[in-house]
Amino acid sequence: MAKHNPLIAALDTASIAQASTWADSIGPHCGMVKLGLEFFLAHGPDAVAEVVGSIPFFLDLKLYDIPNTVAGGVRSVARLRPALLTLHASGGSAMIEAARNAAETAPLRRPKLLAVTVLTSFSGQALAETGMGGDVRAQVLRLGAMAIKAGADGLVCSAHEIAPLRDLLGSGPILVVPGIRPKGSPTDDQARTMTPLEAIQAGADYIVVGRPITKAADPAAAARQIALEIV
Ligand code: C5P
Repeated sequence: MAKHNPLIAALDTASIAQASTWADSIGPHCGMVKLGLEFFLAHGPDAVAEVVGSIPFFLDLKLYDIPNTVAGGVRSVARLRPALLTLHASGGSAMIEAARNAAETAPLRRPKLLAVTVLTSFSGQALAETGMGGDVRAQVLRLGAMAIKAGADGLVCSAHEIAPLRDLLGSGPILVVPGIRPKGSPTDDQARTMTPLEAIQAGADYIVVGRPITKAADPAAAARQIALEIV
């Protein structure tokens, strides 16, 4: 079982009031909270700082652009001091290397960079539609190995890819796993899910849980229950 609290709550909303309420109520039961595109694009970096306060946080922006532009993006958000920041592994090794170099210039603690391999909402069929043939697992392993070699600190992957990624890359990379559904929760748009405990037992460093917490009748209680199960 994990010693730290590996629960990251995804605060997916465009409302500052809602995000603040969740941060206050859910935050104490989590190792980190996550703010993503919906919130960042609606309100910008200052609102992120306002909502998270002193709670460690994961800024899930999934950056993808030419290396110079991504490096600039990393420098721009580094001042917020996110603990974790995402970029797409499919942006390639030059982009990831540029992002890492930019992160290294951050004052004090730099954000750890996580490369997103294949979105957990993707099935094999959805992957094939994008022209990326082969099965999901092979694609995750290929992108994961490339991203870590290029300087990513860790990967975002589905729980089903943890074991093969550990076999290939060892215990070094931070593995962060969304697509988590406690028993009985609807899968929503996620395709490759596992329960919180299964994912931790499989070797995830962190699990990301959104709707099963935020849509619960009592979000704080839902977060507390998941944390109790895995810490
Ligand atoms: O509500 P749910 O638990 O499905 O939320 C999962 C969160 O994890 C969302 O914020 C989503 O953007 C994020 N995520 C994901 N798959 C990835 C990377 C991030 O679902 N590969």
